[in-house]
Amino acid sequence: MVYDYIIIGTGIAGLNAARLIPKDKKVLVLCKKSPWDCNTFWAQGGIATAVDEADVPVHIQDTLTAGVNYNDKKAVELLSQKSFKAVRNLIDSGLKFDLNAKGELAFTKEAAHSRNRILHADGDATGRMIHLFLLQECKHEIVTNAVVNDLLIEDNICYGVQFFTSETEQRVVYAHNTIIASGGIGSLYRYHTNSTAIAGEMQGLISHKGLSLKDMEMMQFHPTVVKGTHFARKPLLSEALRGEGAHIVDENGYRFLKEYHEDEELAPRDVVSRSIFDYHKKTGLGVFLSFEMFEKEHFQKRFPNIYANLKDIGYDLPSQRVPISPAFHYAMGGIETTLDAKVKGMKNLYAVGEVACTGVHGANRLASNSLLEGLVFSQIAVEDSLENIFKISQENYTKSIKSYIRNQKIDKDIKNNLRKIMWKTVAIVREPKELEKSLHQINDYLKQDVGRLLFLRLLTAKSILETALKRRESLGAHYIKEN
Ligand code: SIN
Repeated sequence: MVYDYIIIGTGIAGLNAARLIPKDKKVLVLCKKSPWDCNTFWAQGGIATAVDEADVPVHIQDTLTAGVNYNDKKAVELLSQKSFKAVRNLIDSGLKFDLNAKGELAFTKEAAHSRNRILHADGDATGRMIHLFLLQECKHEIVTNAVVNDLLIEDNICYGVQFFTSETEQRVVYAHNTIIASGGIGSLYRYHTNSTAIAGEMQGLISHKGLSLKDMEMMQFHPTVVKGTHFARKPLLSEALRGEGAHIVDENGYRFLKEYHEDEELAPRDVVSRSIFDYHKKTGLGVFLSFEMFEKEHFQKRFPNIYANLKDIGYDLPSQRVPISPAFHYAMGGIETTLDAKVKGMKNLYAVGEVACTGVHGANRLASNSLLEGLVFSQIAVEDSLENIFKISQENYTKSIKSYIRNQKIDKDIKNNLRKIMWKTVAIVREPKELEKSLHQINDYLKQDVGRLLFLRLLTAKSILETALKRRESLGAHYIKEN
């Protein structure tokens, strides 16, 4: 049987595509672990949207300014122009965003936005609420623990997908259209804010197929994660906290960001992360997020999940300040796509959400534009595939199907080293000599007999290091210190 669509991933981009595909189409949704193992589930602050027509040019300008004008302007225009209809469509379908006292949509502010335009749900659990809603809306079959290990590609056509169903078994499925929505690369880093299932294998697979990745050196580090827990996934302290007044201070209560940028806590994310890194290095002082300006009852109501999570790990907010540091958060680069959300050079293969590089984020993503990108570009992919019907003929696929080994014994150690290497070298501040050393190490690992999944992760890491090395001057999140 040939499916009309295979969707890889169950974050906002994958599930929104599934929601918009007509019910009479045969759709198979694959997810690597459970449907909740995606970055959308963990998103706190909200989803950005142009508030009305008049706000479109302002939202576009804010996105370009945060992205250091390295963005693809046409993609940014599409994102913003389509934003309020796409968000409105979610609301009309039943998603409930938080309302203000007047019963109107409550827009909040985050860094580098020149006005309040972030919608949130259940206070600070926007991603979880969107995810739950989209999961309930999904009427198509979802296969869990389906770990993609190959795409069947020949002559710019994708015939289908091959995936592990267990440690040793694999399955092949064919489809007229394939949509990759598998998320970013968080688990390539030692400390991050992502789902631990997200490790960038699809980006590696795309480069292995000779297709393009773009802007892979552009990594976003979130400035405010809780310091001191030993897990790879760090608890996030949403940017919305700063948008609504929280301060970054050193251990003496000094708001040092004023020494770095006039917008202080509301400067672009790359600037705030780099400033925290630099100040701590220079002074040795601890850095904290302070909430003392919030009234307790209001804080608990507005940020109920952050309040409860932090209570669980021993902090009483808003009276206590919390030690913070930046951690890896978001990959601006990814699979290069065209404005119709297609993988560049492909006829029926799409990439949407964090896995894709549409160019909307440039060298630094504007806060809360990621959920919006997933929403808008998944819609574009579905619309394009419905307008330009493409049919494969399964018999035309002539390449042989390979059998892969999922994991090897040596993989665990290499995976751990890889995380340390990425954390240390493709970091907030990068040194070309260190990047070169890391690239040699990755190339050595690639010569070893590693499992298929690690092989794909290593290819992604290799591409990140290569592009980081090629860009010899600092730009946005890519900050070079010569040695
Ligand atoms: C946050 O709530 O700070 C995350 C929002 C984002 O990454 O856009």
